[in-house]
Amino acid sequence: MELFILALFLLSSLAHLSNAWPQPHQQRCSTLSHHPFFLQNTHSSAKFLKSTYYPAKALNATNTFNEIPLCEIYGSIPYGSNNTLTFVLWLPDQPHYNDRFLAVGNGGMAGYIDYVQMLSQFNTGLGVAVASSDAGHSALLNNVGMGAPGVYLPYLHDRDQVQAWIHDAISLFTPTAKHSNTTETKLTQAELNLMTNAVLDVCDEIDGVKDRVIEDPLKCHFDIDTLACKPNQQSTTCLTPSKLASAKAIYAGPRRSDNGKELYAPFALGSEIEWALQEGPLASAFSIPILQNLVYDDLSYDANTFNWASDVDTLDARAGTLIDENSPNLSTYRNCGGKLLVSQGWADPYNAAELPIRHLQDIQSFFHGDISDWYRLFMVPGGGHCGAASYYPQVPATYHVLEKLVEWVERGVPPESVLSSGPPDGSNTTRKLCPWPQTASLVGRDSDDAADYVCQ
Ligand SMILES: *[C@@H]1O[C@H](CO)[C@@H](O)[C@H](O)[C@H]1NC(C)=O
Ligand SMILES: *[C@@H]1O[C@H](CO)[C@@H](O)[C@H](O)[C@H]1NC(C)=O
Ligand SMILES: *[C@@H]1O[C@H](CO)[C@@H](O)[C@H](O)[C@H]1NC(C)=O
Ligand SMILES: *[C@@H]1O[C@H](CO)[C@@H](O)[C@H](O)[C@H]1NC(C)=O
Ligand SMILES: *[C@@H]1O[C@H](CO)[C@@H](O)[C@H](O)[C@H]1NC(C)=O
Repeated sequence: MELFILALFLLSSLAHLSNAWPQPHQQRCSTLSHHPFFLQNTHSSAKFLKSTYYPAKALNATNTFNEIPLCEIYGSIPYGSNNTLTFVLWLPDQPHYNDRFLAVGNGGMAGYIDYVQMLSQFNTGLGVAVASSDAGHSALLNNVGMGAPGVYLPYLHDRDQVQAWIHDAISLFTPTAKHSNTTETKLTQAELNLMTNAVLDVCDEIDGVKDRVIEDPLKCHFDIDTLACKPNQQSTTCLTPSKLASAKAIYAGPRRSDNGKELYAPFALGSEIEWALQEGPLASAFSIPILQNLVYDDLSYDANTFNWASDVDTLDARAGTLIDENSPNLSTYRNCGGKLLVSQGWADPYNAAELPIRHLQDIQSFFHGDISDWYRLFMVPGGGHCGAASYYPQVPATYHVLEKLVEWVERGVPPESVLSSGPPDGSNTTRKLCPWPQTASLVGRDSDDAADYVCQ
């Protein structure tokens, strides 16, 4: 993405500037744009909008403050035929800067700069310059970034903006499944709770640790039919035949109706409890708006008429070509010396947890074998969507990936494990996350201490 190229230019320019320029930091920051060195080295089409100096603790992102002083550069880059991407770059004061650069992405429909994420990366003590962008469109001009049925979203009608949203960044797109929405088929929260509890009763202890978490859901063989209602059984403690069919459909993931080909990965055992999101809200926020705005250009399009064979082809042609980023051909990235450390929660209610496993396997086959010298996937047992899952407050939800990435990129030491800490329940539990297909095995005494596990 152009942004990152620009940012790298800026950083190399500034490294040269720092010795030659004896003014105080604050003054340097405010006159940055006037310096000839800056102007000569900046990407020609980028526009410098303003710079602001923040002493330590002066910048407030929802009650988190910058721990070290920084110079904030605010700029824009034109793209496409008539579009603009806005970005922010934070440069830590010397001597806090360690020649490291980190770009923060967006979630969902993007369209805004994520200052909270930027600040949490800026404050890691690793001495990073941090950048973030709005991904080429503004949430404010797009229903504040909220999709909903019948709502016009201008950016989905502009090919350049759609492409900048996802295509020009490293990202995965989740085609949310919408499940049929009738009281007969829709699984209630009580039924979802029943399912997760039954699954945990059967599979929690497969790894030898009793903690109400499944270490490897692929080793769990749970027969959902054991929850089928028996004659005269109260349906609050069992599943009716149509509910069983719904549950099986979500576990299986969506398939083409004509040839049965898998369209999206299955949802994992142990993730059921937050499936209410799959049963409506995610379709309303993403799938239906994308169908109505981008694919059919018709705000009254009825998503219930979607044909799971012919319409899949239309969807792939009109949206997939612009936003699918799942090619296994990462040779340019690998050949540049890039390292990818991917993590995914097994109980993520937004993304099917097996998706990155499939992607890893696709990349391995593309490269004919082992790719662990540059690509490693860490699955998080009981982990949610980029953090904690609501039913697993005992599971550590801070993943110490950045330190591992730094060791890998700068010293060539690949991560053999990743520490996780800080569960929402406030306990001191830590765990060891392992490079897939390895999982953590308890070898010591304390199942709440990462040090007592090995990856194997
Ligand atoms: C920091 O920002 C929050 C709103 O995000 C505000 O409620 C709080 O008062 C601010 N704190 C200070 C010290 O300015
Ligand atoms: C370019 O974009 C601006 C702002 O969105 C808009 O006002 C203008 O009409 C556009 N021009 C063209 C030629 O599309
Ligand atoms: C599901 O059905 C309920 C009740 O008929 C309705 O209020 C809701 O909007 C529907 N949700 C979706 C996503 O279709
Ligand atoms: C993979 O991508 C590279 C760089 O874009 C390209 O040169 C190469 O032909 C691609 N390989 C395959 C098998 O598509
Ligand atoms: C967590 O560890 C700290 C430091 O060792 C200790 O003071 C605290 O009591 C522990 N908290 C819990 C909930 O065990």
